[in-house]
Amino acid sequence: MPAEGKNQDTSATSFVGGMRESGNGLLVRVSVIAAIGGLLFGYDTGVISGALLFIKDDLHAGTLEQQAIVSVLLIGAMIGAIASGYLADRISRRWTKVLSGVVYVVGALGCAFSVNAEMLIAFRFVLGLSVGTASFVAPLYISEVAPPKVRGGLVSFNQLAVTSGILIAYVVDFLFKDVTDNWRWMLGLAAMPGAVLAVGMLTVPHTPRWLVSDGQRDRARDTLEKLRAGDEDADIDQELEDIEEANRREGDTKVRELLKPRIRPLLLVGLALAVFQQFVGVNTVIYYAPTILADTGLTNSSSITQTVFVGVTNVVFTVVAVLLLDKVGRRKLLLTGVAGLTVALAVLTAYFWSSTLQQHAPYLALGGLLLYIAAFAVGLGPVFWLMIAEIFPIGVRSAAMSVSTVANWGANFLVAATFLTLSGAITRQGTFLLYAGIAVVAFLVFAARVPETKGRSLEEIQAEVADDSPAHH
Ligand code: BGC
Repeated sequence: MPAEGKNQDTSATSFVGGMRESGNGLLVRVSVIAAIGGLLFGYDTGVISGALLFIKDDLHAGTLEQQAIVSVLLIGAMIGAIASGYLADRISRRWTKVLSGVVYVVGALGCAFSVNAEMLIAFRFVLGLSVGTASFVAPLYISEVAPPKVRGGLVSFNQLAVTSGILIAYVVDFLFKDVTDNWRWMLGLAAMPGAVLAVGMLTVPHTPRWLVSDGQRDRARDTLEKLRAGDEDADIDQELEDIEEANRREGDTKVRELLKPRIRPLLLVGLALAVFQQFVGVNTVIYYAPTILADTGLTNSSSITQTVFVGVTNVVFTVVAVLLLDKVGRRKLLLTGVAGLTVALAVLTAYFWSSTLQQHAPYLALGGLLLYIAAFAVGLGPVFWLMIAEIFPIGVRSAAMSVSTVANWGANFLVAATFLTLSGAITRQGTFLLYAGIAVVAFLVFAARVPETKGRSLEEIQAEVADDSPAHH
């Protein structure tokens, strides 16, 4: 079992306390701007189901075209994640994010002004390129500017932005449903946060770690001094030395290093988190919550309203995660969350399986969905993106994050593409039971393999990894 390591910071400050000690507005500002990447990602996840209802009539899109409109974004995201793994090292984390904001604006406006389904499919792909990039360069950037004591909470601003994006999209779908050109507004409005991201990223510094790896030591020190201004615990010399040492040790690591015995166990942790995050079925809840609820006999309109509850619960419990990740630790939240969502899946299975429950306990469907999303939001949701930003050494960090991210989008695509077919083939309760089984396996794998990274610097984590595999501390 990965126990608390020798470098563990036992002070267990709360996020709010830690932020107060870190006492500097710059850190919050740069993290919030970087997290807009998450907003774009979430908005797209949430907006399309509502928009599709209108697109299909307006652009005469058949089933195949509708599926393409939805899923081409996920393919674009996979490609974007591959390309930006390289770009984040070459042109910096910061410029990659500026680029992603610009591409996003182009994609969103292209979608809004599409004159036919083909054009819309093409621009959804462009949008995907940006979403795939933003999805992991945001946590990467924040993890490299944050001090260890609040890193969990700050990096999870990104997940908070993802969940807020989903909720905003639900609300926009609801507000614009009766407006002329409704779907064009729904898709086009996303250009605004895209522009804010692109312009905002021009105002933030490069990460000290990227500067060191680019040979710009003085700028790295300068940036660290600004980021840590007002933080009494900060030791700039030590931090810079650690970053340089880690950078020296890694040298010019190549992508094939990912397969070296030293990195492989970590890559497996990243991939397991990536794939399980999707295979427990979270996006079936996000994409199909209204369908699931409508099947319980609710009218369309009240199932849409209840879907908003799902969105709100997702945001609220992500806030809980932000507040707790640096105090309680990643592992506890992850394992508790996965246990909780397994129970929720069992409840949903029982509900859809038993007609008695459906008659006498109709609230169980919404209850199961809410428990599910709360448990996801408090653990696996943020912890996947956080961990992949923490566990990899600097030399392979962006490459390894990009591989994990591609796996996550690929798994997302697979689940989205199979949920309705699976429900048809093995019934809805059968599908939830399958997800519950996968969640049990996920729990066991995480319990055995995922290290605790709370309170340690990225370099300490890296040094430990260099000696050992994560499962044997
Ligand atoms: C996942 C997304 C999911 C979202 C839900 C993210 O961490 O990667 O696939 O839609 O959480 O809140």
